[in-house]
Amino acid sequence: MKHVWMATGLLPLLAMPSLAAELSPIEQLGKSLFFDTNLSVNRNQACASCHDPDTGFTSPFDEFNAAGAVVQGSVAGRFGNRKPPSAAYATFSPILHHIDDDGVTIVGGAFLDGRATGKKLGSVTADQAQGPFLNPVEMGLPHAACVVARVLDPVDPFAYPVGYTDVWGADAAVEIPAEITGLCNDPDAKIDIGDEALAARIDGAFDRIAISIATYEATDEMNPFSSRFDAWVAGTGTLSEQERRGFEVFEDEDKGNCAACHVLAPTGREQRAVFTDWTFDNIGVPRNRDNPQGADYVDPGLGEFLRTDPVYAAYAEDVMGAQQVPTLRNLDKRLSPNAPKAYMHNGYFKTLEGVVHFYNTRDVLPRCADPLASEAEALAGNCWPAPEFEATMNKDELGDLKLTAAEEADLVAFLKTLDDR
Ligand code: HEC
Ligand code: HEC
Repeated sequence: MKHVWMATGLLPLLAMPSLAAELSPIEQLGKSLFFDTNLSVNRNQACASCHDPDTGFTSPFDEFNAAGAVVQGSVAGRFGNRKPPSAAYATFSPILHHIDDDGVTIVGGAFLDGRATGKKLGSVTADQAQGPFLNPVEMGLPHAACVVARVLDPVDPFAYPVGYTDVWGADAAVEIPAEITGLCNDPDAKIDIGDEALAARIDGAFDRIAISIATYEATDEMNPFSSRFDAWVAGTGTLSEQERRGFEVFEDEDKGNCAACHVLAPTGREQRAVFTDWTFDNIGVPRNRDNPQGADYVDPGLGEFLRTDPVYAAYAEDVMGAQQVPTLRNLDKRLSPNAPKAYMHNGYFKTLEGVVHFYNTRDVLPRCADPLASEAEALAGNCWPAPEFEATMNKDELGDLKLTAAEEADLVAFLKTLDDR
C-alpha cells in the first residue's frame, strides 16, 4: 500500500483505498503466465482454467464438478485422476520434510501427495508450476522447450505487459530452433534437444518461468486474507451468532476438532490462518464412481509418492491413501448461486453439509449396500460407503463427533465465512 504524505509531513494518509495493489514486474509476468492459454498444446488451457479466481482458484466447470471433478486436459478426452485443489494459499506450504514424533510425520510440498517437494527450485510452488505444462493430461506440451518458445515469442504480445526478458534480461533468452518448435503442436512428439548447452539454457529458462509464476502465487492477489472471518478476527467486521457458534464447534477439541488439522495457528502472514498444517491424512473419503480412471479407482496419495523416495519408502504403507490437508478458504466461492462444487481429492462431496455430516457420522452410520453410492444417495439412505483405503483411515480424530444437527448447521455456516471478497 502506498502512502501519501500530507504537506506537513506528519500524518500518513492511506492513498485511495480502492487502488488495487500494484504488482512488481516479476509478479506481473507470473500473472500473465498463469492466465495464458497459449501455454498448452492446443492453446486452449491456462493454469487459471483449472484454478479460476472466481471459484477460489479451483475448477469453475459445472459439468466436471457435478461428476468426476477431474478437469479435461488441453487434449480432448485426456483426464488425470484428481480434482484441482485451490492454488491460492499454496505458497505457504513448507519444503517437504518430516517431524519425528511417535513415528514420522511428513509435512509440506504441493500436490495432494506432496510430490512437488520444493527441493529442486527451493520453492514448493515453483517446483509445482513445472508439472502442468508437460503433463499429458493437463496442458500437454511435449517438452519444456515448447513452453520457453511460447513464452519468448507470444502470439499475443499484449498478453505480456511485462515480458520474460524485461524481468530476466536479454541474456536469459533462448533461441529455439524451428525443427523443435515445429513439433510443439503435437502432444505426443518425442523431442530430444541433443545439444547440451542448448538443453541447459532451456532448463534455466523453464526454471525462471516457474519461479515467476510462484512469485505471483505469493502475492496478496492470490492470498488476500479478505474473508468475513478475517475481518472478524481483525475487529473490523462481525459474524452472526450462528457463525460464531460454528467457529466454537470448529475449534473445540470435544466438538468438531477441525482445527487439529485445519489449524488456526498463524501460519500465514499477518497472523492470519491458512487452515492447514500441511500434513497428510486419510479421512476415509469414499470412491467417486465418476472418476475418469474408472468407478473402482482408489487414490494411493502420499503413500505412493513415498514409495519412490529412498529415505521415506519404509513409511509408505502407513500412509497409503493419505492426502494433504487443504486450506478451507474459498470453499463456497462459485460463479452462480447454484453452480456445483466438488470437495476432497476426488470431488466425492458436492456439499459442505455432506462433508460435515460425514466427519460427524462416518463411523456411526451403517455402510451403504452400494459401495459406489454417491453423496446424495448416501445422505438419502442414511449410510456411508466404504472408504478408498480402510487400513490407514484416521479413526482417532474424526468419524464420530456426536454433534447435533444444529451444531452441524452452525459449522457449515462458519465454513461459508471463509470466502475471500
Ligand atoms: C487440467 C487442470 C489443471 C491445470 C491446467 C493446472 N492445474 Fe494445478 N492442479 C490441478 C490438479 C488436478 C491438481 C492436484 C494434482 C495432484 O495432487 O496430483 C493441481 C494442483 C495444483 C497446486 C497445488 C495445490 C496444493 O494444495 O497442493 C498448485 C499450486 C497448482 N495446481 C498450480 C497450477 C499452476 C501454476 C498451473 C499452470 C502452470 C496449473 N496448476 C495448471 C489441475 C490443474
Ligand atoms: C485428522 C485431520 C483432519 C481433521 C481433524 C479434519 N480434517 Fe478436513 N481434511 C483433512 C484432509 C486430509 C482433507 C483432504 C482429504 C481428501 O481429499 O481425501 C480434508 C478436507 C476437508 C474439506 C474439503 C476441502 C476441499 O477443498 O476439498 C473440508 C471442507 C474439510 N476438510 C472440513 C473439515 C471440518 C469442518 C472438520 C471438522 C469437523 C475437519 N475438516 C476436520 C484433514 C482433517
